[in-house]
Amino acid sequence: MEKVRWGFLGAGSIANRLGEGLMQVDDAELLAVGSRTADRRQALAERFDVPRQYATYEELVQDPDIDVVYIATPHNLHREHSILALEAGKPVLCEKPFAINVAEAAEIIAVARQRNLFLMEAMWTRYLPVPSEIKRMIDDGVIGQLTMMVGDFGFRGARSARSRLNEPALGGGALLDIGMYPVSFAAYLFGGSPTRIETLGHLEGGIDERSGILLGYPDGGLAVCYSSIRDNTPQECLLFGSGGEIRMPTPWWLTDHFHLKVDGEDWRRVEPGLIGKGFAHEVMEVNRCLKAGLLESPDMTWSHTMGVMTTLDTIRAQWGLRYPME
Ligand SMILES: NC(=O)c1ccc[n+]([C@@H]2O[C@H](COP(=O)([O-])OP(=O)(O)OC[C@H]3O[C@@H](n4cnc5c(N)ncnc54)[C@H](OP(=O)(O)O)[C@@H]3O)[C@@H](O)[C@H]2O)c1
Repeated sequence: MEKVRWGFLGAGSIANRLGEGLMQVDDAELLAVGSRTADRRQALAERFDVPRQYATYEELVQDPDIDVVYIATPHNLHREHSILALEAGKPVLCEKPFAINVAEAAEIIAVARQRNLFLMEAMWTRYLPVPSEIKRMIDDGVIGQLTMMVGDFGFRGARSARSRLNEPALGGGALLDIGMYPVSFAAYLFGGSPTRIETLGHLEGGIDERSGILLGYPDGGLAVCYSSIRDNTPQECLLFGSGGEIRMPTPWWLTDHFHLKVDGEDWRRVEPGLIGKGFAHEVMEVNRCLKAGLLESPDMTWSHTMGVMTTLDTIRAQWGLRYPME
């Protein structure tokens, strides 16, 4: 496979952003887009010079020339659309959150396993050079043992806006959309699921507007995560270790550099870099895995995805937040 030929299932905001990233990857081709809405479909096809358009998702996944299907629909449809593509024999990159809850996530993974197909959660920030370099440093003990992480993701969105974020039926709210970024990053850095979870969430209109989350890890590790769709938070991430510190600047989830302080040395700037607005890295990871014949990305294994989904379920259970489809 010289060029990996992509099919986009959905043509909304994130599909356009991944399209920008895909254009920066030499061995990727955006072959087809499937979208129910003609205007949106045509706009994306024109923008990225996409040769094939489908008015239904069913037709898209049946295109024999597509090597991988990217699921870019709202959270509540990830299970249905991922399974649609997998059952048509297509490898899948599915947007985050991978599903509404862990039961749905398990269903998707079971189909990929049964069909022997590649499947990856599109937690796009995971594939950027900065998080990868920080993970390497932490695993190598550069700041000693990781003891604490403080990370947030919040912006001020209107309660009155017509947005999927405000819609319980689409799995709206802060946690599944942006709150999961620090939760997922903590799982990556601490290397597994928390052993203790304490949280407070403010719910309004069937969704969580803001929350604070404490995650406890073995050996005393602690992650302090907060998120909001009603407040502009600093969007920083601070990491403390027994032998140093790391500061990721605003916005921590999309940065080309970070600051490192090892005990006894001065602060220094580390610049792992970044291509464009970041989405190219995710495309490159999918292409790399497909060409290597992998079913899972080593940076985003199915068990990691299941662990994060379990944490998100536990957090929502503490708040008493259930979506209409659950
Ligand atoms: N926007 C971001 O910054 C961002 C970043 C990272 C991840 N994500 C994730 O990407 C997913 C999509 O987010 P988005 O912001 O791209 O959403 P969006 O702009 O609203 O686009 C949603 C897409 O899903 C399709 N769709 C199918 N059934 C739908 C339904 N019942 N209601 C609404 N849309 C439906 C729409 O379809 P048609 O084209 O077929 O009409 C549209 O193309 C979410 O899970 C989100 O967490 C978004």
